[in-house]
Amino acid sequence: MSQLKAWRAAIIHCIADPKDVGVEHAYEYFEDGLLIVENDTIKAIGHAAELLPTLTSDTQVEHHPDGLITPGFIDTHIHYPQTDMIGSYGEQLLTWLNTYTFPEEGKFHDKAHARDVADRFLQELLRNGTTTALVFGTVHKVSVEAFFEASEVHNLRMICGKVMMDRNAPEYLTDTPETSYQESKELIEAWHNKGRLHYAITPRFAPTSSDEQLSLAGQLLNEYDDVYMHTHLSENKDECAWVQDLFPASKNYLDVYDEHKLLSERSVFAHGIHLCDSEYHRLHETGSAIAFCPTSNLFIGSGLFKLGKAEEHNIHVGMGTDVGGGTSFSMLQTLNEAYKVIQLQNENLSPIKSLYLATLGGAKALRLEEKIGNLMVGTEADFVILDKKATPLISSRLALSKSIEESLFVFMTLGDDRAIKATYSAGQCVHQR
Ligand code: GUN
Ligand code: ZN
Repeated sequence: MSQLKAWRAAIIHCIADPKDVGVEHAYEYFEDGLLIVENDTIKAIGHAAELLPTLTSDTQVEHHPDGLITPGFIDTHIHYPQTDMIGSYGEQLLTWLNTYTFPEEGKFHDKAHARDVADRFLQELLRNGTTTALVFGTVHKVSVEAFFEASEVHNLRMICGKVMMDRNAPEYLTDTPETSYQESKELIEAWHNKGRLHYAITPRFAPTSSDEQLSLAGQLLNEYDDVYMHTHLSENKDECAWVQDLFPASKNYLDVYDEHKLLSERSVFAHGIHLCDSEYHRLHETGSAIAFCPTSNLFIGSGLFKLGKAEEHNIHVGMGTDVGGGTSFSMLQTLNEAYKVIQLQNENLSPIKSLYLATLGGAKALRLEEKIGNLMVGTEADFVILDKKATPLISSRLALSKSIEESLFVFMTLGDDRAIKATYSAGQCVHQR
């Protein structure tokens, strides 16, 4: 039997990239809106005054006079096994990996531990309004099984993969080209497209994979139409120099992946800070995407992402928290830091562009825009209700706001998990503050 339910509040969602159509045409806003959901799907969106009369008297309508509904946020790069090492002090990438990350990831051979962390990780995402994420597991197959099992409980659209890593890491964290290929394939067969789950082939980054392993990763990607590829690219200057040493025949960092056939419309590269023009060009040509991770880029001192360059080259960009290199699960706080990263380069990141990056832009980067990232009729009912009275400061500041754009900017500057009143996945409430 079909189940109809409606939410009445202010509603905003992006319908295009402001870069392509201008800010005014990039979003729809309903000051007193109504979102009608049938089972797990959006049935109607519009002005409450127009849509309320279409409902039968027994339809449940939840009214949030202080609410602002947006699509669920999309995190295009995060590591669930790094949940408990967030905020680790004092190092840049390569030392940070050896000092904090690898020992922490070593714990995930134990499936019970992995499940405990996966459950807490998902709770944290949902508390922050994030309904879809592209997620690193560890080298252990059980880490990915635990993650998918935990995601299934909440019927979340999630993407995850087993790390492939056969060198330049502690022995307890390495696999071999053959085992990494085989185990990744088994995970794809078991989990890819099961319910709302998808698989991402996940070589950690060029320095921790041999040529042989990267080739097998490319081969595997080629064996499936719609499997993802997820890795790191050009994050830190020492890392870039190391890649040059390890792969002297490659033209540049991206070329290492390109030579192993790892660039595709479903390939997502985290960071991409220190890229040259030919790398931007090749990312565009292959339909690959970049995950912009500002809290991480600032926290581990990696550098400033050049959003303008990515836009110039028409590259798909989504936002990533990159926890635990990143310092917050909150997409609002991630946008706060993104704004500052762009300010430091004498440019501006508009509130609508920010909303776009955290929702529809992320969905496009993941090729999921038909399903998530916006609230068009027929898409999946993944949405959040922001609370205009979340804190005394947010409340008083928003009372002075003169436009929805200003209000959004206030949420992005002052907001965090406290601003998320409720989170819905496929029409079901998965978090309530
Ligand atoms: N590069 C390789 N591994 C990692 C990781 O775990 N985090 C980040 N931020 N960069 C990486
Ligand atoms: Zn990362």
